[in-house]
Amino acid sequence: MLKRLRRLRSTKAIRNLVRETKVQVEDLIYPLFIVDGENIKREISSMEGVYHFSVDKLEDEINELTELGIEHVLLFGVPDDYKKDCCGSEAFNDDGCLQRAVRKIKEINPEMDVICDVCMCEYTSHGHCGILTETGYVDNDKTLEYLAKISLSYAKAGADMVAPSDMMDGRIGAIRNALDENGYENVAIMAYSAKYASSFYGPFREAANSAPAFGDRKTYQMDPANSNEAMIEAELDIQEGADIIMVKPALSYLDVIRRFKDNYNMPIAAYNVSGEYSMLKLAVKQGLLNESAIYEAVMSIKRAGATIIITYFAKDLARMLKNN
Ligand code: PBG
Repeated sequence: MLKRLRRLRSTKAIRNLVRETKVQVEDLIYPLFIVDGENIKREISSMEGVYHFSVDKLEDEINELTELGIEHVLLFGVPDDYKKDCCGSEAFNDDGCLQRAVRKIKEINPEMDVICDVCMCEYTSHGHCGILTETGYVDNDKTLEYLAKISLSYAKAGADMVAPSDMMDGRIGAIRNALDENGYENVAIMAYSAKYASSFYGPFREAANSAPAFGDRKTYQMDPANSNEAMIEAELDIQEGADIIMVKPALSYLDVIRRFKDNYNMPIAAYNVSGEYSMLKLAVKQGLLNESAIYEAVMSIKRAGATIIITYFAKDLARMLKNN
């Protein structure tokens, strides 16, 4: 037999030598949920090991991330209920919890890359990702003005990057213009280009208190059945000035990640979302799966073609990688 593939599987050292895909701590972005109030570090019941933090409690967490080698955080603001209104005004309050968190994190570790999710669902009383018309439809072009205002407020607070997750048409261009016109041409945009109307966001909606009060998000988020459409979304985002394109969720959409990778010479991100996290986390906790399943799942996202992985497993992975 000329070819014996088992030769290169025969020892751990050789397997390490010929390994094609490696997840590194540098690839990972860790999401953080910021709440109003003080002295709060509260575990989110739908997402074991993930917490709500008030700004004053961020110091230990940021230092822990830094020690683990995690260099990127993605922030979600979760304001008190009474601050929510029809048009998500709290999202562009320069003294809102997210803006304060950005300033605080930069104070704790100026090297930490701070990315802000830009969306209105956590800030609107109706829980939709934009401004509603009288019939309850999300008004695309009106919402763009707000997304631009919100992005600008995050840039002013010191964000390195904004990540619009609303799925309105034209948002990347609108945000890019607003940033450029105000002197923030160096603030990057990571576009949630192919964001699907997915059931895998379930645990997040509890974490972010952002479930829509009526209806669903199918008139703006993508149909899970479509991948040609994802290519058009990405093309438009690139034309409008996106610096990074993203696929979300990740694990049920590895084919879309691969299509992006094969077609665009751009950094490609994938969001390993809350449902994907909680399923695995619970299976490991119950003893149904070994913890190495976490590495395997995240590695598959990288193998599919994502170089940037947003994951609630970032801390678990950083520890696993250290001990390996
Ligand atoms: C906001 C937003 C959502 C997620 C990220 N940004 C929820 C949604 O669209 O309903 C989901 C993240 C996750 O599930 O981990 N629009």
